[in-house]
Amino acid sequence: MSNSLEDDSDNFEVTPWKVEGAVDYDRLIKKFGTQEITDEILEKIQSFTGQLHPLLEHRFFFSHRDLDWILNKYEKDEKFYLYTGRGPSGMVHLGHLMPWFLTKHLQDKFDSNLLFQITDDEKFLFGNKTMDEINKNVYENILDIIAIGFKKSRTKIIVNSRHIKHLYSNSLEIAKRITFSTAKSVFGFTNSTNVGMIGFPPLQAVPCFLPTIIEGKPTPVLIPAAIDQDPYWRLTRDIAEKIGFYKPAQIHSKFLPSLQTTGKMSSSNPETALFTTDEPKIIEEKVSNAFTGGQPTTALQKKLGGNPGICSVFSYLKFLFDTSRESNQRELKCRSGNLLCGECKHDLSDHSTTFISMFQERRQKAKDLVPEYMYSEDG
Ligand code: TRP
Repeated sequence: MSNSLEDDSDNFEVTPWKVEGAVDYDRLIKKFGTQEITDEILEKIQSFTGQLHPLLEHRFFFSHRDLDWILNKYEKDEKFYLYTGRGPSGMVHLGHLMPWFLTKHLQDKFDSNLLFQITDDEKFLFGNKTMDEINKNVYENILDIIAIGFKKSRTKIIVNSRHIKHLYSNSLEIAKRITFSTAKSVFGFTNSTNVGMIGFPPLQAVPCFLPTIIEGKPTPVLIPAAIDQDPYWRLTRDIAEKIGFYKPAQIHSKFLPSLQTTGKMSSSNPETALFTTDEPKIIEEKVSNAFTGGQPTTALQKKLGGNPGICSVFSYLKFLFDTSRESNQRELKCRSGNLLCGECKHDLSDHSTTFISMFQERRQKAKDLVPEYMYSEDG
C-alpha cells in the first residue's frame, strides 16, 4: 500500500501495517506530532508508582499524547481506563509482549480497568489468511494475553467479530465523521484498498469511548501501544470532543528490533523473532544466528570493541532482562573489547529460554480462564 506517511527523505517507514528500515524515533515524534516523554513526566509517574518501570526508565516508551493530562486527572481522583489491543495475524512474539508488560504494570499501580481489543476483522481484511486461520490465532493470542497476568476482575477482552453488537452502534458516530479524504491521507488508502479496510478504523476507535459509556460518566482512557498505531488515535482524537468524549491519551513504545537486521520483529519471518511458543532448541538456534554489533574476528573484537548501538542481542538484553546497571556495564565492556558476542548470546539464550518456558506454563493455565476474561455487555 503506498502511504502518505511515507517521506522520501527518510529511509524508514512506519504505518499501522508496515514497519521498515532503521526507525529514527526523534524524527518520528516530529512526523507524527506526538510529545517526547520528559523527565518531568517520568518523575510524576514515579510519584504514583514508586519504582519506575524498566521500560520507562530505558525509554522503550518514549512518546505520548496527553499523558501529563491523564496523570493530572488521576491526581484529582479521576481514574482512567487502559486500552490496548492485538491484531491476530499470527503467533505472539516477545516484541508484542512489551506494551502488554507496561499495561500490566500500569493496571497494577493505578488499579485501572483494561479493555483489550482483538482485531480479527482487520487481520482478515488486510492479509491472506482465512477466517479459520485467524480464529485459531485469536484463541492462541488470548492465551498469551491472559498469561501476562492482567487482573481478571479488571480486564475484558473484546474480539471484534464476536462483540460487534456492542461496537457497531458507537462506531457509527465515528464513521459518520471521517471522510474518505481524511482516511486516505491518514492511512494511505488508495482506490485499490478494499472497502472493508476503509471502513475498519472506527472499530479500533470505539474502545476509546466504551469506558465512558460503561461508567456512565466521562472517563479518561490511556492507550499503551507501539507507535505504529498512532494514526488511529490521531483520527479518534479529532472526533472525540465533537461527540462528547475525552480525547484518548497515549503512551507509545519503540519496536523491539528484529534478531536478524534492522526493522521490527516479524511474524511473517519467524527467524527474526522469539515466539512465546518456541521450544528451547529453537530459541538457542535463533539467538546463536542473531545479528550483533560485533567484529568479524575475536582478535578484532578485542582490539576495536563491538557496537551495542546496532546489536540486536544487546537490545533484547537491555529491554527485557538486564537492569540498567547491568546494561551499562555490558555496554562498557563490549565497547572496550572485553566482551565477546558469544557471551551475550549465551546470556540472552539463557534468559529467553527460562522466561519463555515459564510463560508457556502460564499459557497452559490460561486455557481454563478464557471465558472469564471475555467482554460481555453486562460487565
Ligand atoms: N491494530 C492493532 C494491530 O494490528 C490491534 C489493536 C487494536 C491495538 N486496538 C488496539 C493495538 C489498541 C494497540 C492499542 O496490532
